[in-house]
Amino acid sequence: MRFVYVMDPMDRVLPDKDTTFAFQRAAQLRGHVSLHAEPQDVYVDSGEVHARVRPVVVADSAPFFAYGPAEDVRLADVEAVFIRKDPPFESSYLYLTLMLERARGRTEILNDPRGLRDANEKLYALHFARHMPRTLVTSSPDRIHAFVKALGGRGVIKPLDGAGGAGVFLLAEGDKNIRGIVETVTGEGKRLAMVQEYLPAVEQGDKRILLLDGEVLGAINRVPRSDDLRSNIHVGGRVEPCEVTAEEQRIITDIAPRLRADGLVFVGLDVIGGKLTEVNVTSPTGIQELSRHRGEDMAAKVIQWVERKTDGYRPSLRSNPGI
Ligand SMILES: Nc1ncnc2c1ncn2[C@@H]1O[C@H](COP(=O)(O)OP(=O)(O)O)[C@@H](O)[C@H]1O
Ligand SMILES: [Mg+2]
Repeated sequence: MRFVYVMDPMDRVLPDKDTTFAFQRAAQLRGHVSLHAEPQDVYVDSGEVHARVRPVVVADSAPFFAYGPAEDVRLADVEAVFIRKDPPFESSYLYLTLMLERARGRTEILNDPRGLRDANEKLYALHFARHMPRTLVTSSPDRIHAFVKALGGRGVIKPLDGAGGAGVFLLAEGDKNIRGIVETVTGEGKRLAMVQEYLPAVEQGDKRILLLDGEVLGAINRVPRSDDLRSNIHVGGRVEPCEVTAEEQRIITDIAPRLRADGLVFVGLDVIGGKLTEVNVTSPTGIQELSRHRGEDMAAKVIQWVERKTDGYRPSLRSNPGI
């Protein structure tokens, strides 16, 4: 099978951490071809979405990957398209999802471009607000300060388009930086931010639960450095093995039908102290750490799922544009 990966350049990928790299390696081991494209390589010609791709072969030792010669492919002609571009979700990402719709229903697209467009990672979680800590979304500094006071003096502020812990701060009433932080994150009251109740359980870790088609693939716990609020691996969070609790499983069971309906197949939930804080859908990570804990290649499970799904895309469907 041929799989197209729309993603950042391969030389930005960390071979021992990156989840897309793990997908490519697992797919290659199962005999599939990986085709690499960046968002700007995707184009529409006469209503058909194509991409200028380069075959990529990955390896476990340096230089870790090699590109083959570029070619043009019609996306409906490949078995699957993985949208794995890292955030932020800006206008080029928006256009990418709109163009990929031309192949929707004719090839397996992970995650569904419509679902991606609908699901801002921070705001999507609000569909399940009953499982979240107290949360406010606003651009108003006054409203934020009042909310932090109502929370008892502590909160966490985050930009709506951030990832990897970027722009996430602890807000503490009385801290002489609080006004400056709120001003910066909200762009002096012009940009929306999310403010949440501070969950002290974060010191024990922020659990990343990876879901495949609404089912638990596995989880890893990310423990922040003692001098940081943020648990993200990218900023030095330490990864340890963990299991999904019965309480967390209840949250997942509640969320899964909505994720399935939105075509959000490969998803990373962030859970702190049993509370849902974020639903990562654009390019969730963590599969390599999970595989190491399990002693089993969990990326292969995702590839196997795709193999099963693509059986359903018959050639007749592929040649029929505009579904
Ligand atoms: N409500 C919260 N209480 C305590 N810590 C939090 C809270 N929300 C986020 N954090 C910390 O900040 C980190 C990043 O926040 P998150 O909402 O997951 O955004 P990002 O998209 O940057 O990962 C988390 O891993 C966690 O360590
Ligand atoms: Mg997160």
